[in-house]
Order: sequence, then structure tokens, then C-alpha cells
Amino acid sequence: MTVVAIDGPAGVGKSTVARTVAAKLGVPYLDTGAMYRAVAWKALEAGLDPAEEPAMEELIGRISFELRTRAAEAEVVIDGFAPGPLLRTLRVDAATSRVAVHPRVRSWLVARQREFAARAGAVVEGRDIGTVVFPQAKHKFFLDAPLEVRVERRLRQLGGRNAGGRERLKREIQARDERDRRRRASPLRHDGSYETIDTSAGAADQIAARILRSVRAAETVKDP
Ligand code: DC
Repeated sequence: MTVVAIDGPAGVGKSTVARTVAAKLGVPYLDTGAMYRAVAWKALEAGLDPAEEPAMEELIGRISFELRTRAAEAEVVIDGFAPGPLLRTLRVDAATSRVAVHPRVRSWLVARQREFAARAGAVVEGRDIGTVVFPQAKHKFFLDAPLEVRVERRLRQLGGRNAGGRERLKREIQARDERDRRRRASPLRHDGSYETIDTSAGAADQIAARILRSVRAAETVKDP
């Protein structure tokens, strides 16, 4: 079973790269950020505060949460509804890094991530995939890029939807990174077991090609 772990901070281009790698390897793609986003979105829908731990624990106890494979990608279905593009707003961005600090929410989602990848392998993208979810994975990549480059990428993604201006977006990305790196439960960290790739050094398909070369080279090396 092939599991490829891809971690890194916000706006680094993980999704495009991970999706390409998954398609070339013929395994499903799992965006774990979308899972945290879905819980945050549901919390906002229900009028709850994503920072409140007991409310979030109660929420995950009563929702139905499913990962449906659609066009070789995992799609989150929550209480029978696939929120898809609704997960990509700035409001959900901010709520998600608050939801993601709660250990019970994390372990609940991690169990689903492991179940999903156990079916047919996967390219799994997130923050703690190589450190917590699949620490034994043979293929681990940490994508990184300078903050300015990540802000530009996010601006392009948002198009006209970024009402607050460039500086505000930069502050929001910085704040999100800080929360992701500093939280006690499974912070974003690079632990030396990863191959690090600076995504400002090439286009997404070049980064994906580099990952594929590395994965294929490791697959041809027999385990002892
Ligand atoms: O990758 P993304 O921007 O969709 O992630 C959304 C948020 O979820 C981000 O603040 C970090 C958090 N996250 C996490 O804590 N662990 C993961 N495995 C994936 C995302």
C-alpha cells in the first residue's frame, strides 16, 4: 500500500502538487485540511464558537461524517451534505485553525484519515501527516516557501474574493501559521524524516515530478 505524506504551511501549493502526484501514482488524494475545514464550517453553521473545546467535542459526537471518493479524490460529506467550495472562505480559514487545536477533534479525524488510506493507499496532504498520522510512511515531503510567495499564491486563488487587501491577508496567513506551529496537539513541524522542497523553486508540475521520482526510486529499493 502506497502512502505519500505531504505536509507544509498554508499557501505553499500542497494541493495542486498532491493531486498531481496522486493521479500519476493511481491512488486517491486526501486533503485533510478539508476535513478540519468541514468541522469548522459545521460549527459556524450551528452558531458555535470553534475555539470552544466542549462544544466542538459535542459537535463531532452528533454529526455524521463521511469521506466519499469522487473522481479519485476524497470528498467530505457532513450530515449528508458536501460543503465543497463553502469550505474555502476566509471566515472558514480562520475558524479552522481554531478547531484544529482540540486534541479530541484531531484524533477523531486522524482515525478517519488512517481508515481511508488503508483501503487503497493515498497521497495525504496536511500538517501532521508525516509526524502523527503516518509516522512510518516511507514517502514524506515537507513543502515550504517564503511568506511573500505564499501570500501571492493565496491572492491568486482568492481572485476577487479577497476584500481585506494584501496586508490583511498576509497577517491572516501569519496568524494561521503561528497557530498551526505553536499548538500543543500535533503542531506543524519538520522532524528530519522529510524530504524538504522549496515550492518557490519551480512550477507545481516540476515539484510533483520531483516527488514522483523520489517515490519511484524508493519503491525500487527493497525493504531489508
Ligand atoms: O491546508 P488547509 O489550509 O486547508 O488547512 C486548514 C487548517 O487546518 C489549517 O489551519 C491547518 C489545519 N490542519 C491541521 O491542523 N492538520 C491537518 N492535517 C490539516 C490541516
